[in-house]
Parts: sequence; C-alpha cells; structure tokens
Amino acid sequence: MATEPGYPEDLRDLIEAALAELRFSPAPRTAGLEEAMRYSLLAGGKRVRPVLALATARALGAAPERFLPVAAAIELVHTYSLIHDDLPAMDDDDLRRGKPTSHKQFGEDVAILAGDGLFAEAVRIFCEQPGEPAHVLAALRELSAATGVDGMVGGQYIDVLGEHLDAAGLRELHALKTGRLISASVCVVPILEGTDESETLIYRRFADELGVLFQIIDDILDVTESDERLGKPHGSDERHGKTTYVSLYGLERARELAGESHAKARSALAEAGGDTEDLRRVADYIFTRHE
Ligand code: IPE
Ligand code: IPE
Ligand code: MG
Ligand code: MG
Ligand code: MG
Repeated sequence: MATEPGYPEDLRDLIEAALAELRFSPAPRTAGLEEAMRYSLLAGGKRVRPVLALATARALGAAPERFLPVAAAIELVHTYSLIHDDLPAMDDDDLRRGKPTSHKQFGEDVAILAGDGLFAEAVRIFCEQPGEPAHVLAALRELSAATGVDGMVGGQYIDVLGEHLDAAGLRELHALKTGRLISASVCVVPILEGTDESETLIYRRFADELGVLFQIIDDILDVTESDERLGKPHGSDERHGKTTYVSLYGLERARELAGESHAKARSALAEAGGDTEDLRRVADYIFTRHE
C-alpha cells in the first residue's frame, strides 16, 4: 500500500521485515491456521501502530530496532481485531487490505481461530521484549487494558449494540474502539524505558487525541473514498446504520473536527522533549491520508 511523502518509511520497512519473519508453529497439522494468520498479517496494512511505537522510541533517544517485539505484538493485536471486525456477525465485509477477508478466504471457523491465534501469539512475542521485567510487565498491562473491556473490545461492543449516540458518546466510542490501541502503541515505549510519569503523560495526551483523530478520519474516508483506494469496502458504516462523525455532524463539520483534533495532538506533542519529528509526521499522515 502506498503511503504519503513524509511517512517514516524506514520504520515501516523495519516492522514489515520483522512481521514477515514471524512463524507460529512448525507442526504440519496447523499449517493452514498459520497460513490464515500470515495471510491477513502480511496483506499490507499501513502499519501506523507499530510505526508509532518505533517513532516514539526514536523520540526518546532509543534505537527503534530494540522495540520490534512490542511493535510486532501490537500489529498482531490490530490484525486480529480486523479479522473479527469483518466477520458476518459484525461488519460483514468482504474486502480487507485489498484482498478477500479472512472468512471469505478460509471460512468463518478458521477466521475466528486466526484472530484468536494472533492475539495469543501477540502476548508471547510481547514477553520476548528485552527490558527490565517490571517495565515489560507494566507495558503488557497497558496493551492488554487498551485491548480489553475498557478499550478496543469494549468499544466494539458499544459499536455492535448500534444505539444512537450523542456527541460525547461517539467520542467515547472512538476513544475506546480505536483510540486506546493507538494510544498504547505510543505509551508502551516510555513505560518500557521507565520514563518518568510527567513525560509519559505528555505522550499519553498526544496519543489519546491522535487515536480519536484516526477514527474520525476513518469515518470520513468510509464516505469519500473508493474500495480500491481503501482496500476495504466504502459505505460499510452507512450500510449498517452506524453512528459516525459523518452521520452525526455531516462531512464538512467532521472535517473541521478532525482539523481541531489534529491541532490538539500537535500541540500536545510540542510539549514533549526529544526528537519528535517522526511522530509529527505520522500525526500529519493520519490527518491527511486517503487510505
Ligand atoms: C482500520 O485500521 C481499523 C480502524 C481502527 C479504523 P487501519 O486503517 O490502521 O488499517 P490497516 O492496518 O492499514 O489495514
Ligand atoms: C473498527 O472500526 C475498529 C476496530 C477495532 C477493528 P471500523 O469497523 O470502522 O473499521 P474498518 O472501517 O472496518 O476498518
Ligand atoms: Mg466495525
Ligand atoms: Mg469494520
Ligand atoms: Mg471504518
């Protein structure tokens, strides 16, 4: 998938290579499961979450390479969430990352297991992250919490309930289903580094806003872009009567709100020390992307 100028392609190449190397079992009996897991994982996503983790390492003056286990674990969690999000019982979508969705390719049973397998393998890979054991544990807690009931899965639950949401409810939905994992992608790195609380909090403020921005833009692109450009079916939200930034505010206001959210994220980042150039580029990319 093509990205825009300014995106830290070197970090994207690093994570892409690390993901391509991952194998989950040598056993022939489960080769089909591994094939399904790698099919979705290596179909080419934008890799925004792991790139954020690696860019945060750079901002903190650490070598991005050292954080590849945690970055890969986050992308596995994200890929699992996409496979399950597309299932007939959820968004019932046929196209993902420019290819047939997992359940279209392998059947619903295998798709569910591929998602489960990616989540479990993510935890294993995370445990291989070098670092102070107490910091690794705290970072794993951050990722698990961001993925759980007070995070992505809780957000997906509110989403499938399909109740009408007001402005505050919609922002909360976006913060949970998408924002928390994006935020964790940044925050796990200062946690692993043992960075002091006040500095970590600055990164958290930046990343929380960036996460909401990411889903506002996703809502907009669902209306404005083609299947080909997105690599997934446009119009999915309207088909399912979802409350989105576009359904609640209209396209023009949604764009303005995205602009405000981007400005807030940028000003939070401006307070962080270190070389935050790559983080700023990812924030700009998230705001201006078309895919
Ligand atoms: C899609 O995420 C799901 C949302 C949280 C909106 P991405 O837009 O990051 O999807 P990929 O990883 O690039 O395929
Ligand atoms: C899904 O939101 C967020 C996840 C946790 C996967 P969407 O349902 O809007 O994501 P897309 O548009 O299918 O990628
Ligand atoms: Mg969904
Ligand atoms: Mg969906
Ligand atoms: Mg969407």
